[in-house]
Amino acid sequence: MAEHGEARGRVSDGGEPDGGEPNGRRLFLRAAMGGGLAAGYGTFAMMAGKFLYSGGGSAVGWQFVATVDSVGIGESIAYAAPNGAKLVVTRQSEGETADCFTALSSVCPHLGCQVHWEPQNERFFCPCHNGAFDREGNPTEGPPLAARQILTRFPLKVENGLLYVETPLTTLADAGDAEVRGAAPGGPIG
Ligand code: FES
Repeated sequence: MAEHGEARGRVSDGGEPDGGEPNGRRLFLRAAMGGGLAAGYGTFAMMAGKFLYSGGGSAVGWQFVATVDSVGIGESIAYAAPNGAKLVVTRQSEGETADCFTALSSVCPHLGCQVHWEPQNERFFCPCHNGAFDREGNPTEGPPLAARQILTRFPLKVENGLLYVETPLTTLADAGDAEVRGAAPGGPIG
């Protein structure tokens, strides 16, 4: 009787009658279904996260900074990116290409003070704790050197005499706009 009841229980569970191989197959199918669902939800979550939080660093766009001719050698421009990041764009040499400029974060990685370019010393200087960086943003003095902290660098390009910097964007609308901007640079960018 006990054996009969056990068999009925398995059948009413939606599976095969008693037997080792059908049960193994049922377990395999359940595991496969579970794995498939987990993979599906994982992929969905990853895509949703990337889409909704694209301002976290994955979405970038080219932003107009200045006309090339308007920035003299050694001069710097304070620039605020759409996501609020503060940059300092500096002309390092004569010429009409992006290589003549640098675009670095102007926020000291030590404790967040503002750095500025000192053309006479050819360095970025942080007055809070006498931190200093070379023109590439590498630390040369003070706490940033001890901690090996750099100034984040941003890509630059020049088109038709206009200087652009590539920075992170903030909103979903900005992210979509950035793709348009990236596909057809040279138009009104702001
Ligand atoms: S905050 Fe710049 S060196 Fe300390």
